[in-house]
Amino acid sequence: MKPKVYIAKPIPESVEKYIAEYCEYKIWDEKTPIPKEKLLEEIKDIDGLMLPKGEITNEFLDQAPKLKVVSNIAVGYDGFDIEAMKKHKVLGTHTPHVLDETVADTIFGLILMTARKLSECNHHVKKGHWNKMDSEDFFGKDVHDATLGIIGMGRIGEKVARRATQGFNMNVLYYNRSRRKDVEEKYNVRYSDMTNLLRESDFVLLMLPLTNSTFQFMGANEFKLMKTDAFFFNCSRGKTVDENALIEALKMKKISGAGLDVYEQEPINKDNPLLLMDNVVTLPHIGSATKKTRDDMAMRAAENLVAGVTGKTPPDVVKEMR
Ligand code: GLV
Repeated sequence: MKPKVYIAKPIPESVEKYIAEYCEYKIWDEKTPIPKEKLLEEIKDIDGLMLPKGEITNEFLDQAPKLKVVSNIAVGYDGFDIEAMKKHKVLGTHTPHVLDETVADTIFGLILMTARKLSECNHHVKKGHWNKMDSEDFFGKDVHDATLGIIGMGRIGEKVARRATQGFNMNVLYYNRSRRKDVEEKYNVRYSDMTNLLRESDFVLLMLPLTNSTFQFMGANEFKLMKTDAFFFNCSRGKTVDENALIEALKMKKISGAGLDVYEQEPINKDNPLLLMDNVVTLPHIGSATKKTRDDMAMRAAENLVAGVTGKTPPDVVKEMR
């Protein structure tokens, strides 16, 4: 008998076919997120679950006594309660590698959009307000030759560093829990402590995974150290930043602007003050959103799922469970 799995979001047909070879499956094929009650109903009798950025808690696992693997269709797995999963003997997997270059592209787009006010320019032209040659209101800050501070030199940070040094001749500082001498040598980037990085950088990029120790890693004290003409970027998880402190720093002009792909609450609250700030670019958490990369992520998640329910070791078990 084939193992039973549930897929909690639509996936490409080719990926569905691959899963069908090995598993009996059901799928949530709607464009809207699966309601929590529906998911709880579907997990009672399954061996494997594939879902986008799911919250996997002790209570959730209590409802799924046969579950062996949860395959997250994302690289970040802060929704996993690792201890609860270990207790229930449920493996957690994620989708590293396949999205690194795509997210690094998004980050560079966001840096350029924010520093060079490209989004504002676009709106200006489309609204028919372009009636003189050139307005100083749209003069931005050069990205080439500037100093970029990367907090979190993981796989994606490294891809950003390559673009920054080789494409934009930037001076790159980075802070990481452990030094990355390999990246230093490859891309001529310099390790720095947080204080120096925040003081020196024109652009500060936060790329830390969300854990207990990185929760609100950037707060009022950190924003205070940044230069007043510097910009802040976050493409990791919203909760790695104290969002009120960021809003305050922007209001008080302690920093010049921000480019964000992630927020404390997603989708962002309609009355979030960030939405009213012209010097803030807000993307809807689309770092990895190209067709190819999202298809690759779904396939990778399917491979993890199938391995997990057929007694093999999935390729991308999260590091806390290896
Ligand atoms: C996106 O945020 C991901 O974790 O893949």
